[in-house]
Amino acid sequence: MKFNFLNTEESHLAALIGEESDKLGFPAYYVGGFVRDRLLNRASKDIDVVCVGDGIALAKAVSSRLNLNRDITIFKRFGTAMLNYGDIEIEFVGARKESYSADSRKPSVSPGTLEDDQNRRDFTINALAVAISPNNFGEILDSFGGIDDLEAGIIRTPLEPSKTFSDDPLRMLRAIRFSCQLGFDILEETFEGIKKNAHRIEIISAERIHTELNKIMATNKPSVGLERLSVSGLMKYIMPEFEALRGVEYKNGVGHKDNFYHTLKVLDNLCEMSDDLWLRWAALLHDIAKPPTKKFVDGIGWTFHGHEIVGTRMAFKIFKRLKLPLDHKLKYVQKMIRLHLRPISLTREDITDSAIRRLLFDAGDDIDDLMLLCKADITSKNEKKVQRIKENYDLVRQKLIDVEEKDKIRNWQPPISGDLIMQTFNIPPSRTVGVLKDKIREAILDGIIPNDYQAAFDFLLEEAMKLGLERGVK
Ligand code: CTP
Repeated sequence: MKFNFLNTEESHLAALIGEESDKLGFPAYYVGGFVRDRLLNRASKDIDVVCVGDGIALAKAVSSRLNLNRDITIFKRFGTAMLNYGDIEIEFVGARKESYSADSRKPSVSPGTLEDDQNRRDFTINALAVAISPNNFGEILDSFGGIDDLEAGIIRTPLEPSKTFSDDPLRMLRAIRFSCQLGFDILEETFEGIKKNAHRIEIISAERIHTELNKIMATNKPSVGLERLSVSGLMKYIMPEFEALRGVEYKNGVGHKDNFYHTLKVLDNLCEMSDDLWLRWAALLHDIAKPPTKKFVDGIGWTFHGHEIVGTRMAFKIFKRLKLPLDHKLKYVQKMIRLHLRPISLTREDITDSAIRRLLFDAGDDIDDLMLLCKADITSKNEKKVQRIKENYDLVRQKLIDVEEKDKIRNWQPPISGDLIMQTFNIPPSRTVGVLKDKIREAILDGIIPNDYQAAFDFLLEEAMKLGLERGVK
């Protein structure tokens, strides 16, 4: 079978690398993700070249032929080299095999054949190779039935699953990630292998785990991957807090909704409206504190009081453990969690200018994202309830537009600064400065005084007098 999925420029490049490999006497192949993606007609700019010989020597030959000597990076310790050719990244490596000795659990890696190299790969669809040497250019080598699995849409390990997964437990996450990225099924035997080895994910670094998790989060319907993570048993090691959302408890015949499935629905709803990874994380974690805040109150039913606040602390712990960014991205996710109940909890009578001004002030530029999250959060099966909440949502949206037009509160800073307060009363930085600043801000948000400097300054003098302060004399 011949591989004819390259465009003219790519074909030219492959032939050139093949010629250089031929001169060196190292048969060369395109392997892995690039071959898979091209057969699936997906874009890919990362090419992996395996040669039966010295990968670094081949990379050097190709780089001098293309005059790319400044764009080559050599990793001597790993026997690999990387070349940047325009926007294409080409990695070269010599074919390797692993052999195990009785006295060591760690394999020793030594030069091997192409078959040895393909044996070490994670899935049949990633173990395809295409020859690029002149004598057999374009020939597809498919030792494990990868083409059939690509056609059937199946993720399958080339070797016995436990062997492939114990070589690198991250592959369990990769199996699930590929399955939802490509819309493939995981072969039952492979999935059973994940269940059996799930605990071994604990030896994998947080960075590698979150990279896969983020790829699942970036798919069109992350619920598919997240549910597979849960059913396979991986979720309880990666994010036990998320696993804890599962299930329904009943008391006096009253149950609450299953927050696991509710969250997956919210996330999928959101993903139809936004590609933003961090907003997606906010959807994933918006109800994360429901299990620890759950209480049954007689006469009221199930309550999750304060889950939006406890949730922000849990988000920090999860981000820290998974080594996700703790900068403004976490702050943003926490803000979304903290505010996720606000817009919808406003009842018709509560949608006053001042409530809306407060919401705009608290959400700032993230107000539109917050409204998307709230919209995604409407998942009730009760049509009447959905109708009522949607009407409310529309009212809040409209009012947000009106108030913002009138008051420009979004990204607003109150007109009186702490410095001005200190200068006016000749006082040092202290709690009093904060108290006065808060009073001015609250008065403006409540509509007690207009949003302008003179009104705010007069109000400041009045409030300061109540505290016994007098204008300082310089
Ligand atoms: N590979 C593997 N086991 C891993 C990682 C990678 O066997 N844990 C092999 C696979 O053959 C894979 C190739 O190395 O196709 C390249 O890996 P990588 O670039 O990480 O993944 P891709 O398959 O190219 O897919 P993606 O870029 O979407 O991660």
